[in-house]
Amino acid sequence: MRYLVVGAAGHGQEVAWSLREELRALGESEAEIAFLDDAVRAGSEVACGLGPVLGGVELARREAARANTRLVMGVGLPRTKAAIVRRLDVPEHVWTPVVHPSAIVGPNVTMGVGTYVGPGAVLTVNVQLGRFVTINTHCLVAHGGVLGDFATLHPDAHLSGDVAIGQGCEVGAGSIVIPGLTVGEWAVLGAGAVAVDHVSGGRTHVGVPARELVRGAVPQRPLPLPLGENQPTRSLTRFLR
Ligand SMILES: CC(C)(COP(=O)(O)OP(=O)(O)OC[C@H]1O[C@@H](n2cnc3c(N)ncnc32)[C@H](O)[C@@H]1OP(=O)(O)O)[C@@H](O)C(=O)NCCC(=O)NCCS
Repeated sequence: MRYLVVGAAGHGQEVAWSLREELRALGESEAEIAFLDDAVRAGSEVACGLGPVLGGVELARREAARANTRLVMGVGLPRTKAAIVRRLDVPEHVWTPVVHPSAIVGPNVTMGVGTYVGPGAVLTVNVQLGRFVTINTHCLVAHGGVLGDFATLHPDAHLSGDVAIGQGCEVGAGSIVIPGLTVGEWAVLGAGAVAVDHVSGGRTHVGVPARELVRGAVPQRPLPLPLGENQPTRSLTRFLR
């Protein structure tokens, strides 16, 4: 079998590495790996040495028609993944999922075409991943997690139990979503955010606890506290200036 990884940048090379490890674990040592990327010169080799770049993404249309060829999504950003899938419009069964052999995948976990699960990721039980979902290195998806098509968890993102991540969401590196929350479609959670409430679709939230990122907003000064019993102690007042 020949695997064409669409996207030869750093993430695509990580996906190719996971694929090679998966193929080795399955005993498919004859498989070939190559890359397609519009921004890289055809004929060059990717930096990590996992294979040549054959040409631009458009080549996938022709190559995917061959019986011995599968496509692999090597791009991590939700909108770019969706644009590539739309542009190529090849039968979806040619997009193969890739799961690094060090990922832990529990019972009743389902995943759609073109999905990627990176090294050290943990999907516990009753998890549903849609089409072209990216679960990057060291992520956790706990019981009952549901991720819509094209959603991406960047490295070390942790979803607690029964979290629903809408189609096209991007969950930043090291972020946490507490149990039972919903993150609306095409929303973004910034790196390091902790979502403690539902996140509306299409919005960007950052920080701990996560708050909507409002661009160009006048910085808010904390309101003065009333004088009285609840006045902060001296050690806290320095944080309120
Ligand atoms: C949240 C995010 C999407 C915003 O990106 P952006 O739209 O380009 O925003 P900017 O960089 O212009 O930052 C806008 C403001 O948000 C702040 N901000 C950006 N990211 C933040 C984050 N993760 N947490 C807290 N504040 C953040 C910036 O400091 C800036 O504040 P200011 O207006 O007071 O200066 C991006 O910073 C982010 O965190 N992306 C996650 C990417 C990731 O995890 N990648 C992993 C790849 S492996």
